[in-house]
Formats: sequence, structure tokens, C-alpha cells
Amino acid sequence: MARRITVAVAHDETAPIRLIREHIPEDSAIDVVEEFSGFELNAEALLRLDADLLLVACREGSGAALDLVELWHTVRGRTPVMVLSHGSDQEFVQAAFAAGADDFLVLHPGPYIPEQLARDVEFAIRKGVTRNRSAAERGPEGGNLICVLGSKGGVGKTVSSTNLGAALATRGKRTVLIDLDLQFGDVALALGLAPEVTLFDLAVSGGSLDRDKLDDFLLRHPSGLRVLAAPARPDQAVSVTAQLLTTVYALLREDYDFIVVDTPPAFTSEVIATVDVANWICMVAMFDALSLKNTRLGLDTLELMGHSPEQVRVVLNRAGTNVGISDADAVEILGRRPDVLVPSDREIPVSINDGVPITLSGSRSQAAQAITSLAEMFLHDPESAQAPATTKSKRRRGLFRRKRVAPARELARGH
Ligand SMILES: Nc1ncnc2c1ncn2[C@@H]1O[C@H](COP(=O)(O)OP(=O)(O)O)[C@@H](O)[C@H]1O
Ligand SMILES: [Mg+2]
Repeated sequence: MARRITVAVAHDETAPIRLIREHIPEDSAIDVVEEFSGFELNAEALLRLDADLLLVACREGSGAALDLVELWHTVRGRTPVMVLSHGSDQEFVQAAFAAGADDFLVLHPGPYIPEQLARDVEFAIRKGVTRNRSAAERGPEGGNLICVLGSKGGVGKTVSSTNLGAALATRGKRTVLIDLDLQFGDVALALGLAPEVTLFDLAVSGGSLDRDKLDDFLLRHPSGLRVLAAPARPDQAVSVTAQLLTTVYALLREDYDFIVVDTPPAFTSEVIATVDVANWICMVAMFDALSLKNTRLGLDTLELMGHSPEQVRVVLNRAGTNVGISDADAVEILGRRPDVLVPSDREIPVSINDGVPITLSGSRSQAAQAITSLAEMFLHDPESAQAPATTKSKRRRGLFRRKRVAPARELARGH
């Protein structure tokens, strides 16, 4: 039986204790042992608290909540702290991690909390309490996981991930591509595949999961690439949990050289769980000031989550487009040089419509060569990537103080 876990909860009036309790399944062996209304706790009170984890439940953008997270981190070191809030605004998520949070989850307003969300909260709490073992102890073995991220819709995440996956597969690497854009995933479409089975079917299949069973849910692409497709309908997305994904990644690492994960434009709990175990991050940005600024925020967040800049490859898509920004401006906003520049090319939308990635069509265009060079980077240096050390001690703190926390701002197509 799972060991019982004790949690303390500090909350504001937007997140009453009743709501928080409803987010924790009754049969989860997680006990709320202390409750604080408000965040005005001093170091002495925190030191005296006898709990495995602190939950801070707050309105989006709450500076007082993050002050408490930071104080907890200072006073209690490795004892985990998790933020529950009403939205996943990127700047607030980043500020929470900067303050020392181990995880960030989005609250449901109630009155009826979806069972699956409560399971996610249970999983995140268990993960938080057990993950403080050393990075070496929990470092995943086997295939390299590459998580493709981008701060908004339409920047080229799916173009990058499908071409990367296909290019690795045609070079003889056992590669699987997972579509984690759970509501609007279009990986199968971009590869010309008809998804007979999806991540949703896998999630609701019941019973225990092993490598043989998982194989039944992988689509076969002519390049040799295997694909785990996104659910067919947006409402099916909730069935796919971070817990399921963690099991799927562990099983796939045993059989595959590369696991490429395409994502939605938001730090959802599934994306955070993926970033947590990724060896590499491929960050896709577009050549406009807003995308570059948001990419910079994303890069900063990754560093706070324990990924060194060497584990991150930046793809600058639609590079060279004349939008009044010079290459030097782009580097300045991004804070680093992009690793790959993909120009705008009509061939790309045509290839999506045809369902044939440009890295497979024999094209010698600059765009095709650029994306192929991305695959070459991972091929030539796969061993050097280590899974991130997500223990808080590895985080660079104090870099991104939350002097200014942005008001709630919806991420494109996100929550
Ligand atoms: N370099 C490019 N040149 C021309 N069109 C592009 C380029 N990159 C992406 N596109 C087009 O932009 C659209 C969005 O790309 P996609 O990869 O689906 O974005 P995301 O997955 O980030 O939402 C697609 O229709 C694609 O064909
Ligand atoms: Mg996409």
C-alpha cells in the first residue's frame, strides 16, 4: 500500500480549503494536516510545520503566495512546495518556479472537480514527495527524449517535430513521435496518417501497460517512424494524464533511440511532466518580437526547471522574414543565438497538405536542409545530454525575481 502523505495548505479566498480538499481524491492516502487562510506565515511557523509537502493555492499573479513559496524554500530546503492557481499564465508559472516551486497545477473552479484532475493532483503530490532523491538515482536510462516546445500556436512546433522524427527514423534510428497537443493535435495529419488508435484509446484501455500493449497503439509511418497520435476530439484530452505519460516514456525508452514529443503552446501539467524527464528541449520561435520575447521567458523557465542551456536547441522559424527585426535584434531579445534558422518557404504548407515532411521529399531547399541539420545535431551528440537535475538545489534562483507579475493572460489556444 502507498505510504500516507501529509500536506499543509495555505490558501487565499479565491481557493477555499473546501475546493482544495475536493482536488485530492478521498482514497489517495493524502492527509491535509494543517490549513492556513492567507500567506502571512513566518519562518518559525514554517519550521514547526510537520508535513511532507506545502500546497499554496492562490489567485493567478499572487505575489504574497510566491513570497510564501520563496520563504518555504529558504527555510525548508528540499521539502517540496506546489502552487495551485486558477490559470497557467506563463509569467506567473515562471515566477512560481523561480520562487522555488516544485510543481504548478491549474485549479478547477468547481463545484464538480473532474475525477481525472484530482488524480493528476494526487500524482503531482506523490511525485513531489518522492522526487527529492538525487538526480542520479532517478535519472532515466535508455532512449533520448526530445520535447519540442513553442510559446504560441503556429510557430512551427508540429513542422519541426514531424520533420525531426521522420529524419531520425530515415537515418536508421528507432524513433517514436508523440502528439501531446491533446486538444488540437495534427501530427498524424502532417504525416499523412489516418489515426485508427490514439492516446485516448490507450488511456481508456484499462489494465496494466507493458511494451507489447503499448506497441498496439503506435501508428506506422513509411519512414519507419512510429507515432502515438493525439485524441481525435478535444473532450478526450482529459483522459491523458501526466502519470500515464511517465509510464509511456519509461517503456518507450527501453525500445527506442529517440522519443520526440510535440506539444501545445502552454505549460500544461502534461508538458511539465515531459520537460521534467526530457534529455533535450527543442524550442521553436518565430521571427516576431512577441514570439521572441515569449521564447526568452520559456528559456528562462526551462533553466529554472533544471535544464542547462546546452540541453536546449533553439529553432528560429521563418527567419529572414522582413518584419523590421534584424538578426542582431533577435539574438538580443532571445538572449542567445538560435541553433537552426528555418526560412519561410511555401514548400512547408504544401508538405503539410500533402502529408509528406520536407525532410523526406528529397527537397534540397534551404528549409529542408535547415530542418535536416536539426536532426543531425541530435544524431551527433545524443550521449551528451543528461536528464535534468530537477532538485531545487540545481536551480538558479534570484535571477527572475517577480517584481512584476503580469495580470492573467491567456496563452494562445492554452487554458
Ligand atoms: N518556415 C515556414 N514557412 C512557411 N510556412 C510555415 C513555416 N513554418 C510553419 N509554417 C506553416 O505554419 C503553420 C503552423 O505550423 P505548425 O508547425 O502547425 O505550428 P504549431 O505546431 O507551432 O502550432 C502550418 O500551416 C505550416 O505549414
Ligand atoms: Mg502543432
